[in-house]
Amino acid sequence: MSYRVLNSISVKNLSGKEFVKDKSSLLVVLVDKSAKKNKLLIHMDKITKGGLFKSINSFVKSKAKSLNLQSPDGVSSKEVLLMKTPDKSNTYLWLDLFKSISKTANSLGKQDISVMFACKCPDGKDESWLTEVCCRQIEASAYIFGSSKNKTVVKPSLKKASIIASSVTASALKKLKTSARVGFAVGEAMNAAKHLGDMPANLCTPRIIERKVKALKKPFPKLKISTFNEKDLAKLKMGSFLSVGRGSDEPSRMMTIEHKGGKAGEKPIVLVGKGITFDTGGISLKPSPAMDEMKWDMCGAASVFGVMIALARLNAKVNVVGLLACAENMPSAHATKPGDVVTSMSGQTIEILNTDAEGRLVLCDALTYVKKYKPAHVIDIATLTGACVVALGNYASGLMANDQKLADKILQAGENSGDRAWQLPLWDEYKSCTKTNFADLANIGGAGAGTVTAACFLSKFTEDYSWAHLDIAGTAWVKGNEKGGTGRPVPLLCDLLLS
Ligand code: BES
Ligand code: MN
Ligand code: ZN
Repeated sequence: MSYRVLNSISVKNLSGKEFVKDKSSLLVVLVDKSAKKNKLLIHMDKITKGGLFKSINSFVKSKAKSLNLQSPDGVSSKEVLLMKTPDKSNTYLWLDLFKSISKTANSLGKQDISVMFACKCPDGKDESWLTEVCCRQIEASAYIFGSSKNKTVVKPSLKKASIIASSVTASALKKLKTSARVGFAVGEAMNAAKHLGDMPANLCTPRIIERKVKALKKPFPKLKISTFNEKDLAKLKMGSFLSVGRGSDEPSRMMTIEHKGGKAGEKPIVLVGKGITFDTGGISLKPSPAMDEMKWDMCGAASVFGVMIALARLNAKVNVVGLLACAENMPSAHATKPGDVVTSMSGQTIEILNTDAEGRLVLCDALTYVKKYKPAHVIDIATLTGACVVALGNYASGLMANDQKLADKILQAGENSGDRAWQLPLWDEYKSCTKTNFADLANIGGAGAGTVTAACFLSKFTEDYSWAHLDIAGTAWVKGNEKGGTGRPVPLLCDLLLS
Protein backbone atom coordinates (compact mmCIF):
# COMPACT_ATOMS: atom_id res chain seq x y z
CA MET A 1 0.00 0.00 0.00
CA SER A 2 1.43 3.33 -1.05
CA TYR A 3 0.13 6.70 0.01
CA ARG A 4 1.41 8.37 -3.16
CA VAL A 5 -1.12 9.96 -5.46
CA LEU A 6 1.13 10.76 -8.44
CA ASN A 7 3.34 8.14 -10.06
CA SER A 8 6.23 10.46 -10.67
CA ILE A 9 7.45 13.99 -10.07
CA SER A 10 10.78 14.90 -11.63
CA VAL A 11 12.90 17.66 -13.13
CA LYS A 12 13.54 18.01 -16.87
CA ASN A 13 16.43 20.13 -18.05
CA LEU A 14 15.48 21.53 -21.45
CA SER A 15 16.86 23.77 -24.16
CA GLY A 16 14.57 26.21 -25.96
CA LYS A 17 14.06 23.77 -28.83
CA GLU A 18 13.23 20.89 -26.50
CA PHE A 19 10.95 23.14 -24.47
CA VAL A 20 8.59 23.95 -27.32
CA LYS A 21 8.44 20.24 -28.18
CA ASP A 22 7.61 19.25 -24.58
CA LYS A 23 4.49 17.14 -24.96
CA SER A 24 2.75 17.39 -21.61
CA SER A 25 -1.00 17.86 -21.77
CA LEU A 26 -0.71 21.04 -19.73
CA LEU A 27 2.24 23.40 -19.49
CA VAL A 28 1.97 25.72 -16.50
CA VAL A 29 4.20 28.79 -16.59
CA LEU A 30 4.50 30.93 -13.47
CA VAL A 31 5.15 34.47 -14.60
CA ASP A 32 5.82 37.96 -13.31
CA LYS A 33 7.32 41.07 -14.93
CA SER A 34 10.66 39.28 -15.30
CA ALA A 35 9.20 36.54 -17.51
CA LYS A 36 10.55 38.14 -20.69
CA LYS A 37 14.10 37.40 -19.55
CA ASN A 38 13.49 33.64 -19.42
CA LYS A 39 15.58 31.87 -22.10
CA LEU A 40 13.01 29.21 -22.84
CA LEU A 41 10.19 31.71 -23.15
CA ILE A 42 12.32 33.88 -25.47
CA HIS A 43 12.62 30.86 -27.74
CA MET A 44 8.92 30.14 -27.55
CA ASP A 45 8.10 33.78 -28.23
CA LYS A 46 10.07 33.65 -31.48
CA ILE A 47 8.12 30.61 -32.60
CA THR A 48 4.85 32.34 -31.83
CA LYS A 49 6.13 35.43 -33.70
CA GLY A 50 5.92 37.65 -30.67
CA GLY A 51 2.46 36.41 -29.71
CA LEU A 52 3.58 34.89 -26.42
CA PHE A 53 5.14 37.99 -24.90
CA LYS A 54 2.22 40.06 -26.12
CA SER A 55 -0.12 37.79 -24.16
CA ILE A 56 2.17 37.75 -21.13
CA ASN A 57 2.46 41.56 -21.22
CA SER A 58 -1.23 42.22 -21.08
CA PHE A 59 -1.77 39.37 -18.62
CA VAL A 60 0.81 40.68 -16.16
CA LYS A 61 -0.84 44.13 -16.28
CA SER A 62 -4.36 42.70 -15.85
CA LYS A 63 -6.08 41.67 -12.63
CA ALA A 64 -6.53 38.08 -13.81
CA LYS A 65 -4.71 35.37 -11.87
CA SER A 66 -4.37 32.94 -14.75
CA LEU A 67 -4.63 32.89 -18.52
CA ASN A 68 -5.20 29.87 -20.72
CA LEU A 69 -3.48 29.89 -24.14
CA GLN A 70 -4.82 27.17 -26.43
CA SER A 71 -1.75 25.46 -27.92
CA PRO A 72 0.07 28.22 -29.81
CA ASP A 73 1.33 27.18 -33.29
CA GLY A 74 4.66 25.38 -33.07
CA VAL A 75 4.23 24.52 -29.37
CA SER A 76 3.66 20.81 -28.66
CA SER A 77 1.92 21.06 -25.27
CA LYS A 78 -1.83 20.86 -25.74
CA GLU A 79 -2.48 23.81 -23.47
CA VAL A 80 -0.38 26.52 -21.90
CA LEU A 81 -1.57 28.03 -18.65
CA LEU A 82 0.01 31.25 -17.43
CA MET A 83 -0.28 31.85 -13.70
CA LYS A 84 0.71 35.05 -11.97
CA THR A 85 2.96 34.79 -8.94
CA PRO A 86 1.85 36.48 -5.70
CA ASP A 87 3.50 39.04 -3.46
CA LYS A 88 7.07 37.98 -2.79
CA SER A 89 6.80 38.33 0.98
CA ASN A 90 3.81 36.06 1.52
CA THR A 91 4.81 32.40 1.56
CA TYR A 92 1.28 31.14 2.15
CA LEU A 93 0.10 32.73 -1.10
CA TRP A 94 2.78 30.74 -2.93
CA LEU A 95 1.61 27.54 -1.26
CA ASP A 96 -1.91 28.38 -2.45
CA LEU A 97 -0.61 28.96 -5.97
CA PHE A 98 1.13 25.58 -6.08
CA LYS A 99 -2.01 23.97 -4.72
CA SER A 100 -4.08 25.58 -7.46
CA ILE A 101 -1.77 24.10 -10.12
CA SER A 102 -2.64 20.63 -8.86
CA LYS A 103 -6.34 21.37 -8.43
CA THR A 104 -6.60 22.96 -11.89
CA ALA A 105 -4.83 20.03 -13.56
CA ASN A 106 -7.21 17.58 -11.89
CA SER A 107 -10.31 19.61 -12.68
CA LEU A 108 -9.24 19.71 -16.35
CA GLY A 109 -8.69 15.94 -16.25
CA LYS A 110 -4.98 16.28 -17.12
CA GLN A 111 -2.70 13.31 -16.56
CA ASP A 112 0.70 14.87 -17.00
CA ILE A 113 1.77 18.45 -16.51
CA SER A 114 4.94 20.46 -16.82
CA VAL A 115 5.63 23.45 -14.63
CA MET A 116 8.11 26.20 -15.31
CA PHE A 117 9.14 29.15 -13.16
CA ALA A 118 9.59 32.29 -15.25
CA CYS A 119 9.51 34.45 -12.17
CA LYS A 120 11.50 35.79 -9.25
CA CYS A 121 11.70 33.73 -6.04
CA PRO A 122 9.82 34.78 -2.91
CA ASP A 123 11.87 36.76 -0.38
CA GLY A 124 14.61 34.70 1.26
CA LYS A 125 13.85 31.62 -0.86
CA ASP A 126 15.60 30.15 -3.91
CA GLU A 127 14.94 27.90 -6.91
CA SER A 128 15.38 24.82 -4.75
CA TRP A 129 12.67 26.05 -2.44
CA LEU A 130 10.35 26.76 -5.37
CA THR A 131 10.95 23.26 -6.72
CA GLU A 132 10.61 21.42 -3.42
CA VAL A 133 7.52 23.18 -2.18
CA CYS A 134 5.85 23.17 -5.60
CA CYS A 135 6.38 19.40 -5.92
CA ARG A 136 5.16 18.87 -2.37
CA GLN A 137 2.01 20.89 -2.92
CA ILE A 138 1.27 19.26 -6.28
CA GLU A 139 1.40 15.80 -4.67
CA ALA A 140 -0.43 16.81 -1.49
CA SER A 141 -3.16 18.75 -3.30
CA ALA A 142 -3.87 15.93 -5.74
CA TYR A 143 -5.11 13.84 -2.79
CA ILE A 144 -8.84 13.15 -2.82
CA PHE A 145 -10.26 11.00 -0.04
CA GLY A 146 -12.23 8.07 -1.38
CA SER A 147 -11.53 5.08 0.87
CA SER A 148 -14.97 5.01 2.48
CA LYS A 149 -16.87 6.02 -0.66
CA ASN A 150 -18.41 3.50 -2.97
CA LYS A 151 -20.67 4.96 -5.66
CA THR A 152 -19.36 8.50 -5.50
CA VAL A 153 -15.57 8.07 -5.56
CA VAL A 154 -13.66 10.63 -7.58
CA LYS A 155 -10.16 9.62 -8.60
CA PRO A 156 -7.56 12.28 -9.34
CA SER A 157 -6.49 12.29 -13.01
CA LEU A 158 -3.01 13.69 -12.45
CA LYS A 159 -0.29 11.03 -12.61
CA LYS A 160 2.87 12.80 -13.62
CA ALA A 161 4.43 16.20 -13.05
CA SER A 162 7.70 17.63 -14.35
CA ILE A 163 9.46 20.77 -13.30
CA ILE A 164 11.21 22.36 -16.26
CA ALA A 165 14.66 23.80 -15.70
CA SER A 166 16.17 25.93 -18.44
CA SER A 167 19.51 24.44 -19.49
CA VAL A 168 21.11 24.66 -16.03
CA THR A 169 24.53 23.25 -15.06
CA ALA A 170 24.89 19.63 -13.96
CA SER A 171 25.36 20.56 -10.31
CA ALA A 172 22.37 22.91 -10.32
CA LEU A 173 20.29 20.18 -11.94
CA LYS A 174 21.34 17.69 -9.29
CA LYS A 175 20.25 20.10 -6.58
CA LEU A 176 16.87 20.68 -8.21
CA LYS A 177 16.35 16.94 -8.61
CA THR A 178 16.99 16.44 -4.91
CA SER A 179 14.50 19.18 -4.11
CA ALA A 180 11.86 17.54 -6.29
CA ARG A 181 12.49 14.17 -4.66
CA VAL A 182 12.18 15.67 -1.19
CA GLY A 183 9.05 17.60 -2.13
CA PHE A 184 7.40 14.51 -3.59
CA ALA A 185 8.25 12.46 -0.48
CA VAL A 186 6.96 15.12 1.90
CA GLY A 187 3.76 15.40 -0.15
CA GLU A 188 3.35 11.62 0.03
CA ALA A 189 3.93 11.77 3.80
CA MET A 190 1.26 14.47 4.13
CA ASN A 191 -1.14 12.27 2.19
CA ALA A 192 -0.41 9.33 4.48
CA ALA A 193 -1.19 11.52 7.50
CA LYS A 194 -4.34 12.90 5.84
CA HIS A 195 -5.50 9.42 4.93
CA LEU A 196 -5.28 8.12 8.51
CA GLY A 197 -6.96 11.26 9.81
CA ASP A 198 -9.79 11.25 7.28
CA MET A 199 -10.64 7.58 7.83
CA PRO A 200 -13.78 7.28 9.98
CA ALA A 201 -13.07 6.18 13.54
CA ASN A 202 -14.84 2.83 13.09
CA LEU A 203 -12.38 2.03 10.28
CA CYS A 204 -9.34 3.51 11.98
CA THR A 205 -9.07 1.99 15.45
CA PRO A 206 -5.82 1.56 17.40
CA ARG A 207 -5.56 -2.01 16.07
CA ILE A 208 -6.11 -0.87 12.48
CA ILE A 209 -3.39 1.78 12.86
CA GLU A 210 -1.16 -0.95 14.28
CA ARG A 211 -1.78 -3.00 11.14
CA LYS A 212 -0.92 -0.05 8.91
CA VAL A 213 2.28 0.57 10.87
CA LYS A 214 3.29 -3.08 10.54
CA ALA A 215 2.57 -2.89 6.81
CA LEU A 216 5.36 -0.29 6.44
CA LYS A 217 7.81 -3.18 6.71
CA LYS A 218 6.96 -4.24 3.18
CA PRO A 219 7.95 -1.11 1.24
CA PHE A 220 10.53 -0.09 3.88
CA PRO A 221 12.18 -3.24 5.29
CA LYS A 222 14.88 -1.21 7.05
CA LEU A 223 12.39 0.35 9.48
CA LYS A 224 12.33 -1.31 12.88
CA ILE A 225 8.80 -1.68 14.13
CA SER A 226 7.58 -2.68 17.59
CA THR A 227 4.02 -2.81 18.84
CA PHE A 228 2.63 -2.98 22.36
CA ASN A 229 -0.78 -4.32 23.37
CA GLU A 230 -2.53 -3.58 26.65
CA LYS A 231 -0.70 -6.38 28.46
CA ASP A 232 2.63 -4.94 27.34
CA LEU A 233 1.55 -1.45 28.43
CA ALA A 234 0.54 -2.86 31.83
CA LYS A 235 3.97 -4.50 32.19
CA LEU A 236 5.51 -1.10 31.55
CA LYS A 237 3.27 0.27 34.34
CA MET A 238 1.54 2.72 32.04
CA GLY A 239 -1.45 3.23 34.32
CA SER A 240 -2.16 6.65 32.89
CA PHE A 241 -2.12 5.57 29.22
CA LEU A 242 -4.32 2.55 29.99
CA SER A 243 -6.90 4.61 31.91
CA VAL A 244 -7.94 6.33 28.67
CA GLY A 245 -9.03 3.23 26.75
CA ARG A 246 -10.76 1.64 29.73
CA GLY A 247 -14.24 2.69 28.58
CA SER A 248 -13.73 1.40 25.06
CA ASP A 249 -14.19 -2.05 23.55
CA GLU A 250 -11.28 -1.22 21.27
CA PRO A 251 -8.00 -2.12 22.98
CA SER A 252 -5.23 0.50 23.13
CA ARG A 253 -1.99 0.14 21.23
CA MET A 254 1.44 1.76 21.24
CA MET A 255 3.74 1.48 18.23
CA THR A 256 7.34 2.54 17.67
CA ILE A 257 8.95 2.99 14.27
CA GLU A 258 12.75 3.38 14.18
CA HIS A 259 14.60 4.85 11.24
CA LYS A 260 18.35 4.45 11.57
CA GLY A 261 19.90 6.50 8.78
CA GLY A 262 22.47 8.37 10.88
CA LYS A 263 25.70 7.25 12.51
CA ALA A 264 25.41 4.20 14.75
CA GLY A 265 26.15 6.01 18.02
CA GLU A 266 24.18 9.15 17.19
CA LYS A 267 21.39 9.92 19.67
CA PRO A 268 17.98 9.84 18.02
CA ILE A 269 15.35 12.50 17.74
CA VAL A 270 12.12 11.06 19.08
CA LEU A 271 8.66 12.02 17.83
CA VAL A 272 5.67 11.13 20.01
CA GLY A 273 2.18 11.41 18.50
CA LYS A 274 -1.18 11.55 20.26
CA GLY A 275 -3.35 8.91 18.64
CA ILE A 276 -6.85 9.12 20.13
CA THR A 277 -8.79 7.41 17.34
CA PHE A 278 -11.99 8.94 18.69
CA ASP A 279 -12.43 11.35 21.56
CA THR A 280 -15.95 11.43 22.98
CA GLY A 281 -14.59 13.06 26.12
CA GLY A 282 -15.36 9.88 28.07
CA ILE A 283 -17.53 10.36 31.18
CA SER A 284 -16.81 14.11 30.83
CA LEU A 285 -18.77 13.74 27.59
CA LYS A 286 -18.36 16.31 24.83
CA PRO A 287 -21.40 18.12 23.39
CA SER A 288 -22.82 16.65 20.14
CA PRO A 289 -22.18 19.44 17.60
CA ALA A 290 -19.11 18.69 15.47
CA MET A 291 -18.17 15.71 17.64
CA ASP A 292 -17.42 13.81 14.40
CA GLU A 293 -14.30 15.97 14.17
CA MET A 294 -12.84 14.02 17.06
CA LYS A 295 -11.96 11.29 14.55
CA TRP A 296 -9.01 13.58 13.77
CA ASP A 297 -7.82 13.37 17.39
CA MET A 298 -5.16 10.92 16.19
CA CYS A 299 -3.52 13.41 13.83
CA GLY A 300 -0.42 13.71 16.02
CA ALA A 301 0.19 9.99 15.58
CA ALA A 302 -0.75 10.26 11.89
CA SER A 303 1.85 12.96 11.34
CA VAL A 304 4.51 10.79 12.99
CA PHE A 305 3.45 7.94 10.70
CA GLY A 306 3.81 10.24 7.68
CA VAL A 307 7.19 11.63 8.71
CA MET A 308 8.61 8.11 9.14
CA ILE A 309 7.49 7.29 5.59
CA ALA A 310 9.27 10.37 4.22
CA LEU A 311 12.49 9.54 6.11
CA ALA A 312 12.44 5.96 4.85
CA ARG A 313 11.58 7.00 1.29
CA LEU A 314 14.49 9.45 1.25
CA ASN A 315 16.97 7.25 3.11
CA ALA A 316 17.46 10.29 5.33
CA LYS A 317 20.77 10.35 7.17
CA VAL A 318 19.29 10.78 10.63
CA ASN A 319 18.28 8.57 13.53
CA VAL A 320 14.63 9.10 14.35
CA VAL A 321 12.21 7.16 16.51
CA GLY A 322 8.49 7.68 15.95
CA LEU A 323 6.02 6.64 18.63
CA LEU A 324 2.25 6.40 18.14
CA ALA A 325 0.16 6.34 21.32
CA CYS A 326 -3.29 5.07 20.32
CA ALA A 327 -6.48 4.66 22.31
CA GLU A 328 -10.21 5.34 21.97
CA ASN A 329 -11.80 7.58 24.62
CA MET A 330 -15.34 6.34 25.34
CA PRO A 331 -17.81 6.51 28.23
CA SER A 332 -19.01 3.18 29.65
CA ALA A 333 -19.47 1.33 32.91
CA HIS A 334 -15.77 0.52 32.76
CA ALA A 335 -14.65 4.02 31.93
CA THR A 336 -12.39 6.10 34.12
CA LYS A 337 -14.43 8.56 36.23
CA PRO A 338 -13.65 12.13 37.26
CA GLY A 339 -11.75 11.97 40.54
CA ASP A 340 -10.17 8.58 39.81
CA VAL A 341 -6.47 8.41 40.58
CA VAL A 342 -4.03 6.44 38.41
CA THR A 343 -0.30 5.81 38.63
CA SER A 344 1.80 6.81 35.65
CA MET A 345 4.91 4.97 34.46
CA SER A 346 6.99 7.77 36.03
CA GLY A 347 5.57 6.83 39.44
CA GLN A 348 3.68 10.13 39.73
CA THR A 349 0.02 9.64 40.56
CA ILE A 350 -2.58 11.59 38.59
CA GLU A 351 -6.05 12.65 39.65
CA ILE A 352 -8.19 12.58 36.51
CA LEU A 353 -10.50 15.52 37.15
CA ASN A 354 -11.70 15.62 33.56
CA THR A 355 -11.71 12.51 31.38
CA ASP A 356 -11.75 14.76 28.31
CA ALA A 357 -8.18 15.82 29.07
CA GLU A 358 -7.09 12.38 27.87
CA GLY A 359 -4.36 13.28 25.38
CA ARG A 360 -1.92 14.26 28.09
CA LEU A 361 -2.68 10.98 29.89
CA VAL A 362 -1.49 8.82 27.00
CA LEU A 363 1.36 11.19 26.18
CA CYS A 364 2.84 11.37 29.68
CA ASP A 365 3.51 7.63 29.76
CA ALA A 366 4.82 7.61 26.20
CA LEU A 367 7.12 10.53 27.09
CA THR A 368 8.42 8.56 30.09
CA TYR A 369 8.95 5.46 27.96
CA VAL A 370 11.12 7.23 25.35
CA LYS A 371 13.80 8.09 27.94
CA LYS A 372 15.19 4.66 27.15
CA TYR A 373 16.39 5.95 23.77
CA LYS A 374 18.62 8.57 25.46
CA PRO A 375 17.16 11.04 22.96
CA ALA A 376 18.92 14.12 21.62
CA HIS A 377 15.49 15.78 21.48
CA VAL A 378 11.89 14.72 21.98
CA ILE A 379 9.02 16.40 20.18
CA ASP A 380 5.44 15.47 20.89
CA ILE A 381 2.69 16.31 18.45
CA ALA A 382 -0.90 16.42 19.66
CA THR A 383 -4.37 17.76 18.96
CA LEU A 384 -4.29 18.61 22.62
CA THR A 385 -6.48 21.60 23.42
CA GLY A 386 -9.49 23.47 22.07
CA ALA A 387 -7.86 26.51 23.68
CA CYS A 388 -5.12 26.37 21.06
CA VAL A 389 -7.74 26.78 18.33
CA VAL A 390 -9.07 29.82 20.19
CA ALA A 391 -5.58 31.31 20.57
CA LEU A 392 -4.10 30.66 17.13
CA GLY A 393 -6.89 29.51 14.81
CA ASN A 394 -5.92 27.49 11.75
CA TYR A 395 -2.70 29.16 10.75
CA ALA A 396 -0.14 28.31 13.39
CA SER A 397 0.51 25.27 15.51
CA GLY A 398 1.19 26.05 19.17
CA LEU A 399 4.76 25.47 20.30
CA MET A 400 6.06 25.11 23.85
CA ALA A 401 9.47 23.85 24.87
CA ASN A 402 11.92 23.42 27.73
CA ASP A 403 14.85 24.09 25.36
CA GLN A 404 14.86 27.41 23.52
CA LYS A 405 17.45 26.29 20.97
CA LEU A 406 15.17 23.46 19.92
CA ALA A 407 12.18 25.81 19.88
CA ASP A 408 14.07 28.23 17.60
CA LYS A 409 14.91 25.41 15.19
CA ILE A 410 11.27 24.37 15.07
CA LEU A 411 10.12 27.94 14.44
CA GLN A 412 12.66 28.23 11.63
CA ALA A 413 11.54 24.93 10.09
CA GLY A 414 8.01 26.31 10.15
CA GLU A 415 9.11 29.43 8.28
CA ASN A 416 11.10 27.43 5.70
CA SER A 417 8.28 25.03 4.97
CA GLY A 418 5.40 27.48 5.22
CA ASP A 419 3.95 25.21 7.94
CA ARG A 420 4.33 27.61 10.80
CA ALA A 421 4.31 27.36 14.57
CA TRP A 422 4.02 30.09 17.18
CA GLN A 423 5.58 29.83 20.60
CA LEU A 424 3.65 30.18 23.86
CA PRO A 425 5.32 30.53 27.27
CA LEU A 426 6.09 27.62 29.55
CA TRP A 427 7.06 29.70 32.55
CA ASP A 428 7.34 28.33 36.07
CA GLU A 429 4.50 30.64 37.12
CA TYR A 430 2.08 28.45 35.19
CA LYS A 431 3.35 25.18 36.53
CA SER A 432 1.53 25.12 39.88
CA CYS A 433 -1.74 24.64 37.99
CA THR A 434 -1.61 20.85 38.34
CA LYS A 435 -1.72 20.90 42.16
CA THR A 436 -4.35 18.79 43.89
CA ASN A 437 -5.01 17.45 47.40
CA PHE A 438 -5.48 13.89 46.20
CA ALA A 439 -2.56 12.95 43.93
CA ASP A 440 0.84 14.16 42.80
CA LEU A 441 -0.78 15.90 39.84
CA ALA A 442 -4.21 16.78 38.49
CA ASN A 443 -4.83 16.34 34.77
CA ILE A 444 -6.35 19.81 34.33
CA GLY A 445 -5.22 23.30 35.28
CA GLY A 446 -7.29 26.36 36.05
CA ALA A 447 -9.62 28.35 33.81
CA GLY A 448 -7.09 30.26 31.71
CA ALA A 449 -4.25 29.38 29.34
CA GLY A 450 -5.53 25.88 28.57
CA THR A 451 -2.85 25.23 25.98
CA VAL A 452 -0.05 26.24 28.31
CA THR A 453 -1.39 24.34 31.32
CA ALA A 454 -1.68 21.16 29.23
CA ALA A 455 1.98 21.58 28.26
CA CYS A 456 2.85 22.23 31.93
CA PHE A 457 1.35 18.87 32.78
CA LEU A 458 3.53 17.21 30.13
CA SER A 459 6.60 19.12 31.30
CA LYS A 460 6.51 17.15 34.57
CA PHE A 461 7.39 14.07 32.54
CA THR A 462 10.06 15.55 30.28
CA GLU A 463 12.52 17.11 32.71
CA ASP A 464 15.36 14.74 31.76
CA TYR A 465 15.72 15.74 28.12
CA SER A 466 15.41 18.50 25.54
CA TRP A 467 11.72 18.64 24.68
CA ALA A 468 9.21 20.52 22.57
CA HIS A 469 5.46 20.16 22.32
CA LEU A 470 3.40 21.01 19.22
CA ASP A 471 -0.32 21.57 19.78
CA ILE A 472 -1.89 20.97 16.37
CA ALA A 473 -5.55 21.18 17.41
CA GLY A 474 -6.11 24.08 15.00
CA THR A 475 -3.87 23.03 12.13
CA ALA A 476 -4.33 19.27 11.62
CA TRP A 477 -7.66 19.52 9.83
CA VAL A 478 -9.99 22.14 8.39
CA LYS A 479 -13.77 22.56 8.42
CA GLY A 480 -15.98 23.81 5.59
CA ASN A 481 -15.91 22.97 1.87
CA GLU A 482 -12.52 21.39 2.04
CA LYS A 483 -13.23 19.62 5.31
CA GLY A 484 -10.44 17.15 5.86
CA GLY A 485 -6.96 16.51 7.19
CA THR A 486 -4.23 18.95 6.18
CA GLY A 487 -1.16 16.75 6.62
CA ARG A 488 0.29 19.34 8.98
CA PRO A 489 2.77 19.49 10.68
CA VAL A 490 4.49 16.95 8.41
CA PRO A 491 6.22 19.68 6.31
CA LEU A 492 7.57 21.41 9.42
CA LEU A 493 8.88 18.18 10.94
CA CYS A 494 10.42 17.01 7.66
CA ASP A 495 12.16 20.34 7.19
CA LEU A 496 13.53 20.08 10.72
CA LEU A 497 14.75 16.50 10.37
CA LEU A 498 16.11 16.77 6.84
CA SER A 499 18.05 20.01 7.30
N1 BES B 1 -8.97 16.49 21.52
C1 BES B 1 -9.35 17.51 22.41
C2 BES B 1 -8.85 18.88 21.98
C3 BES B 1 -9.57 19.49 20.80
C4 BES B 1 -10.82 20.06 20.95
C5 BES B 1 -8.95 19.57 19.58
C6 BES B 1 -11.43 20.66 19.86
C7 BES B 1 -9.56 20.17 18.50
C8 BES B 1 -10.81 20.72 18.65
C9 BES B 1 -8.77 17.23 23.81
O1 BES B 1 -8.70 15.91 24.16
C10 BES B 1 -9.69 17.88 24.78
O2 BES B 1 -10.81 17.48 24.85
N2 BES B 1 -9.19 18.87 25.51
C11 BES B 1 -9.98 19.58 26.45
C12 BES B 1 -9.12 19.83 27.66
C13 BES B 1 -9.91 20.35 28.83
C14 BES B 1 -10.85 19.30 29.35
C15 BES B 1 -8.93 20.77 29.91
C16 BES B 1 -10.43 20.89 25.82
O3 BES B 1 -9.66 21.48 25.05
O4 BES B 1 -11.56 21.27 26.03
MN1 MN C 1 -10.48 15.18 25.00
ZN1 ZN D 1 -8.49 14.56 22.64
